[in-house]
Amino acid sequence: MPLMEPYRIKVVEPIPILTRAEREVAMVRAGYNPFNLRADEITIDLLSDSGTGALSAAQQAAGALGDETYAGARSFYRFRETVEKLAGYPHILPVHQGRAAERILFNALLTPGQLCLSNTHFDTTRANVVLAGGVPVDLPCPEAADLDSPAPFKGDIDLDRLTAALTGPDRERVGVVLMTITNNGGGGQPVSMANLRAVSDLCRAHGVPFFLDAARFAENAWLVIQREDGYAHHTPEQVARLAFDLADGAVASLKKDAIAHMGGFLALRDDALAQRCELTLIATEGFRTYGGLSGRDLEMLAQGLTEVVQPDYLRARAAATEHLGNLITAAGVSIVRPAGIHALYLNAGRLLTHLPPSRFPGHALATELYLAGGVRCAELGSLYLGQEDEHGNLVKAAPHELVRLAIPRRVYTQSHLEYVAEVVAEIAQHPERVPGYRVVEAPPLLRHFNCRVEPVR
Ligand code: F0G
Repeated sequence: MPLMEPYRIKVVEPIPILTRAEREVAMVRAGYNPFNLRADEITIDLLSDSGTGALSAAQQAAGALGDETYAGARSFYRFRETVEKLAGYPHILPVHQGRAAERILFNALLTPGQLCLSNTHFDTTRANVVLAGGVPVDLPCPEAADLDSPAPFKGDIDLDRLTAALTGPDRERVGVVLMTITNNGGGGQPVSMANLRAVSDLCRAHGVPFFLDAARFAENAWLVIQREDGYAHHTPEQVARLAFDLADGAVASLKKDAIAHMGGFLALRDDALAQRCELTLIATEGFRTYGGLSGRDLEMLAQGLTEVVQPDYLRARAAATEHLGNLITAAGVSIVRPAGIHALYLNAGRLLTHLPPSRFPGHALATELYLAGGVRCAELGSLYLGQEDEHGNLVKAAPHELVRLAIPRRVYTQSHLEYVAEVVAEIAQHPERVPGYRVVEAPPLLRHFNCRVEPVR
């Protein structure tokens, strides 16, 4: 069947279409930082796939049933039943978004100096490990370093290094192992069931808790069905359940694979740990039957979790991302291969060879995508991950200069994605015209969100 969205459009929102001159004014005002742009200056917004999805009619209807009872709301029980059926954990705590689950879990689980080992921590996950006194350690598999390798599961953890960490001199310091599925910080690549099973066995053997960061559990399941031997006849729900079964619990941002605007959960097997987490939940998020969410949110999340595992939906979403990836590749721009689902990662370093890391090629390409076509996205390169000395000279570049095009769920059609590919292709005709950037103003932390930069001609 050809690529086609398995839904039709019932409610529309106009897209702002600006002239290049208007976009230039907007970018100057924004200090050349796409995070400072306003929605009404953006034509296609590929900044994040988080909380940006389109609700279904069934979710809107479920929202109307939202029960706003303070404690014991019907909507909570509906939400809990749905998550229990999907993931099988006995304790399910709702939270307002994924990072709240991370904060509560790591504070309850880690003691100062303990290690959290992961395939790759997402930024907030890393920050919450650090804030809890822990030390985040990324152990991506060797294939992940080769952006062009077509290896199917470049989101896997490096089992040799994980074994070494669990048996080496620091083994007593390992507090938790966390697998991010799919691996957002690692090019949106999936994790294989074989890898998850091996991690689970190692953690059991060494008595270390094993958790999933399950923000994109359905997309990971879909890629397992497509790519891993032995799963072609499974449903996405079955694969997701097999993954959840391997772990002691999960944190999840439901702003992704529940196709909702807000929400998350912390799910646990251990009674004592659940009790500790619940206390923090009540103190900082809300009572255990709402955790910072409204009844309306809980209803829409429950409905979204049943929609996100539909094969027709996942097939079309994966095909759309792959289609965009093929068009961009055909235009001569490299992407992290193979294409995942929630985002494409453009290799800006390879396109803008005239710009050294100190001129931020990832940021330069992201800015140009906006100036040329109103496409907003952000870099994952040396502006975000690099390090400077006190004079502002880049002393450590990011391993790769990437730009992430994150694709909101059910929001953009094939023609919108083709428009994005045309904008990329236009830039790729004269990459040497894209200027580099220098930082004019940056806060000491999280500078990519707040810095101001300017072009260097
Ligand atoms: N884990 C992963 C893998 C994520 O991608 C995110 C968020 C979180 C945790 C945190 O969840 O935002 O609900 O608190 N990722 C978004 C993104 C922001 O654009 O990739 P949250």
